Amino acid sequence: MAQLDHEEQLTAIIAAIEERLEYLLPTKSEHSQELVDAMRYATLGGGKRLRGTLVCATASSLSGDYTRALDAACALECLHAYSLVHDDLPVMDDAALRRGKPSCHAVFGPALATLVGDALQPLAFSLVLDCPELTSNQRLAISQTLAHASGWRGMVGGQAWDIETSQADALTIESLRRLHAAKTGEFFVAAIEIGRLIARPDGDTGEREVLERFSRKLGEAFQVVDDLLDTTESTAQLGKPSGQDARHDKPTFPVLLGSAEATTYAQTLLHNAFSDLEDIELGNSLLAAVAERCVNRLR
Ligand code: IPE
Ligand code: IPE
Ligand code: MG
Ligand code: MG
Ligand code: MG
Repeated sequence: MAQLDHEEQLTAIIAAIEERLEYLLPTKSEHSQELVDAMRYATLGGGKRLRGTLVCATASSLSGDYTRALDAACALECLHAYSLVHDDLPVMDDAALRRGKPSCHAVFGPALATLVGDALQPLAFSLVLDCPELTSNQRLAISQTLAHASGWRGMVGGQAWDIETSQADALTIESLRRLHAAKTGEFFVAAIEIGRLIARPDGDTGEREVLERFSRKLGEAFQVVDDLLDTTESTAQLGKPSGQDARHDKPTFPVLLGSAEATTYAQTLLHNAFSDLEDIELGNSLLAAVAERCVNRLR
């Protein structure tokens, strides 16, 4: 891929993720055809694929090859899709639109949408555990990474904290950072760690800690931007209801810092994340290009 520029490489990676997801998701069920239809609806046809792209871009930036990372990238996208299906449920954020189309529960009902999330989780682990391109050690380490990132200390823990919290709680910036780190940041940390695990089958060659520092900043910046876009962009632009956070009285960075300062904060995080990459000579890498995309985006 050396002859392609970063934009072309990213386009190729996203297309490869889409194609692989299309192939890996079930199409027929003897038990409930509606369940597999809903799993495909929730996972295919939309989404920026940032987490999957981060897996592949990390592997590619470290080893020059991303193809062995595709199934793990799809696994993380399945977990992310599940988190969105549950996040949109009437008992959570009650959002009727996702990725520019009616949310999973709006089409299939909340009971089946709950089961879609439940089914996407073990599917994600199967994709890793059954991936012939990975060694046993890699399958184990990637599964552990996904379990940590998606569980009670990761995304679900953050989501639980999120639904317990309103502006009246007057969260400190530090607490909000920890909430964001759990609900959103852990998937970013996992994406980059998984890419590294695939590129470095023989163990850490000195990048692990730096990449973790980088990914924590990136995950935080991503959620700050998500909160900002919720206040500035239209529903049509976002493909999900805008103004959700205000409607649910959520503490966000724009609420705590004001929009201008929150914008500066996200850019500072990105700038500092780039410095981390420079420390391991990845300042001009494909991974840096994806990081830029994660923060400087319009949806
Ligand atoms: C939305 O993530 C959920 C958050 C953590 C804010 P994305 O904005 O990456 O969603 P898709 O995958 O592109 O739809
Ligand atoms: C959700 O955060 C993060 C998840 C773990 C799904 P948000 O509730 O802000 O995500 P959006 O704005 O609905 O995509
Ligand atoms: Mg939410
Ligand atoms: Mg939401
Ligand atoms: Mg949001």
